[in-house]
Amino acid sequence: MTTIQPITANTTEPAAKAADARRFPDGFLLGAAAAAYQIEGAAHEDGRADSIWDAFSRVPGAVINADNGDVACDHYHRYRDDVALMRELGLDTYRFSTSWARVHPDGGPVNLKGVDFYSRLVDELLDAGILPWLTLYHWDLPQAHEEQGGWTNRDTAFRFRDYALTMHDALGDRVKVWTTLNEPWCSSFLSYTGGAHAPGRQDVGAGLRAAHHLMLGHGLAVQALRERDESLELGITLNLTVAKPVDPSRPGDVDAARRIDGQFNRVFLDPIFRGHYAGDLLADVGHLGLRDAIQPGDLEIISTPINALGVNYYHGESVSDQPATHPLGGHAPTDRPIRSPFPAADHVHFHSQGLPQTAMGWEVQPDGLRELLGRVHREYTGPAGVRMFVTENGAAYDDEVTADGAVHDSDRTEFLLAHLDAILDAIEEGTPVHGYFYWSILDNFEWAWGYEKRFGLVRVDYETQQRTLKDSGLAYQQVIRDRCLPATSDH
Ligand code: FCB
Repeated sequence: MTTIQPITANTTEPAAKAADARRFPDGFLLGAAAAAYQIEGAAHEDGRADSIWDAFSRVPGAVINADNGDVACDHYHRYRDDVALMRELGLDTYRFSTSWARVHPDGGPVNLKGVDFYSRLVDELLDAGILPWLTLYHWDLPQAHEEQGGWTNRDTAFRFRDYALTMHDALGDRVKVWTTLNEPWCSSFLSYTGGAHAPGRQDVGAGLRAAHHLMLGHGLAVQALRERDESLELGITLNLTVAKPVDPSRPGDVDAARRIDGQFNRVFLDPIFRGHYAGDLLADVGHLGLRDAIQPGDLEIISTPINALGVNYYHGESVSDQPATHPLGGHAPTDRPIRSPFPAADHVHFHSQGLPQTAMGWEVQPDGLRELLGRVHREYTGPAGVRMFVTENGAAYDDEVTADGAVHDSDRTEFLLAHLDAILDAIEEGTPVHGYFYWSILDNFEWAWGYEKRFGLVRVDYETQQRTLKDSGLAYQQVIRDRCLPATSDH
């Protein structure tokens, strides 16, 4: 068996560089991410049962082109080749998730074949010198649990803890970094209130209960894993934003920004780092179902100390209580009606800042990442002594394969370099950041957007499953090799 790699970057000698090239600090991890349902496929193999995403994908109009994760990138069968690609890229670390529905099909006993897949994947990564960064929950709740109420049912938090321990039984000897949840905002508000994601419910109270129970599950899992092994690096990944009022002199705009910050960022940051929900948030949403979900002792469990915070950042928000004259380009993937995911911000409007947009209609705002990291460090991770990582950041563009078979995605390369540059700005300002994961290593199943949106450093031809390293992948390979940004790029 291979030994665990220390949580440090590989420090091969950099090539000679111009004096103004910007270097990453020693030990900074450069990696990439993906998630089980988005890449694995093999949805009905080796005992795996439905997750909420299998069920949701069958709902007419829920996912573009009625796409689903049945085959996806067929990573379940091709993981060795995919790890070889990661090695070629030079990744220090790979962030992946395990599928609860593969490991405890129908929420029942452990499925050894399911567990074995992750054991083989971890061995393959370790053999390649790549640090395995494991996320336990990237949105694929077993459908059997959903039928018992899903995350609106408090019991699901305890089942999540059991599943975390199952994974630790199997991989604890080799995996040292454990993330409980990926983006609980999406798996609660976007899924139970907005209805855009599985299970597609549209109920304000359900979203708030789900959010609280996800947090409870996080805390229970951290406690249980810590009890198993004090040396584990334990954490959670949150998607966070920078919400700014369109006009800082208008009280309505300032209140809109406060609400989005509260119902997107602070609803998770405060319970985890401060052991309470903020007063203004409780005033806005407490009566809508949050207060009823909180039981004595919950906030102590939720605020169990962690070692690592993962920040996922895609774009910032410019908000107002007034409708926009030029609304943002982003729109719902299908005709299926979805509602605002925010429990108490129905009157908030999202305005364009006039910045370039990705194929998702998301504005490209790298400096927002610098600002966000600084704020999170000052208010949360710094005082708690928690290490901060950017666990997702990336862009979808309408890639084209040229006659030479290549993908010249200069837009994605620019995006990547500009965000890495923003992280170096943050570090220079005194914000400690310890790593970056590009989303995603492969093009994959982009949830309700199906296979239409491509975020990968590696193109996947879904007909043939052929993988092609894009130009952005080559650029990242060079950054990782040199441990610095190219001096010549105009990011
Ligand atoms: C994040 C998700 C990830 C992917 C990217 C584009 O919100 O965690 O699975 O969909 O967005």
